[in-house]
Order: sequence, then C-alpha cells, then structure tokens
Amino acid sequence: MREIICTKSGILNAAAQFLEIIGDHTIIAFQGHLGAGKTTFIKAICDTLGVEDNVCSPTFTIINEYRAASGDSVFHFDFYRVEKLQEALDLGLEEYFYSGCLCLMEWPERIGQLLPEETVRVQIDPVDENTRSIKIDL
Ligand SMILES: Nc1ncnc2c1ncn2[C@@H]1O[C@H](COP(=O)(O)OP(=O)(O)OP(=O)(O)O)[C@@H](O)[C@H]1O
Ligand SMILES: [Mg+2]
Repeated sequence: MREIICTKSGILNAAAQFLEIIGDHTIIAFQGHLGAGKTTFIKAICDTLGVEDNVCSPTFTIINEYRAASGDSVFHFDFYRVEKLQEALDLGLEEYFYSGCLCLMEWPERIGQLLPEETVRVQIDPVDENTRSIKIDL
C-alpha cells in the first residue's frame, strides 16, 4: 500500500508521483465518498499527461475520452449513475480496459464484478479541507 498526501496547491506534484507509482498499470479505480476529490485528482493526472480537453465528470455519458500529449487516449469513467449491471455490460467496457490506454474510473463499486482482476484500487479520503489522502493498493 502506497500513500500520497495531496494538498490542493501540491496536486500536480501528487499526480506526477501517482503516475510514477502506477507505472505500466492502466486500469485504475478511484473510490471515495461524494466530494472526496476523485474528479479533481483525475483532472490533475490528465493535466500532468498534457491533456488539453476539458476534464469533467462524464455524468451523463459515463465515458469521456481525452487525448494526452503523447497522442494516446485517456478514458475517464463515472459509473455513479449505473444502476443495473446490464447498463454496464452495454458499454462494452472490455474494449476500453484492454485498449492499453489509461482508464480512470470513478464509482467503480457500481460495476462490481466487471472490474478486471488487474485493476489498481485507489482510495481517496479527506484529511482536512484542502488535503486528501490517496492510498494506492500497490
Ligand atoms: N487536495 C485536494 N484534492 C482534491 N480535491 C480537493 C483537495 N482539496 C480540496 N478539494 C476539493 O474537494 C472537492 C472534490 O470534488 P470532486 O468533484 O473532485 O469530488 P468527487 O470525489 O469526484 O465527487 P463525486 O463523487 O461527486 O464525483 C472539490 O471542491 C475540490 O476543490
Ligand atoms: Mg466526481
């Protein structure tokens, strides 16, 4: 288990540290309660990767695709609104998961058994108003 303490002003440093820790892993599940900081941290990761697209929670579409500076796609999922397993099955997730592109997920709990075994679990918890603990199960 690795832990990063992430302050609001140090979030880009924290994102760079995070990318170093995950290395070649591409399937990343961010857990944490409403407002814990999942979207904010994913945005910082995308900034670090040189994504110029607008990074926001794909609340209605469930999946956003961004382009990193390297030319690779980055997929951002928010499963909050997924209520039935069938809805998740209809998304054809395997295609994204096995694309080799970075897959950053919010509310992975909603798709439970569809998460690949190699998923890296990340837990985000508030420490204080501007500080978050980011625990990486690696
Ligand atoms: N160090 C920090 N890292 C991330 N967010 C922070 C930090 N400090 C303060 N915040 C604030 O916490 C809030 C996190 O909101 P965010 O939308 O990222 O949460 P979320 O986990 O994606 O919520 P949801 O479950 O609704 O998707 C923002 O208002 C952000 O400014
Ligand atoms: Mg969010």
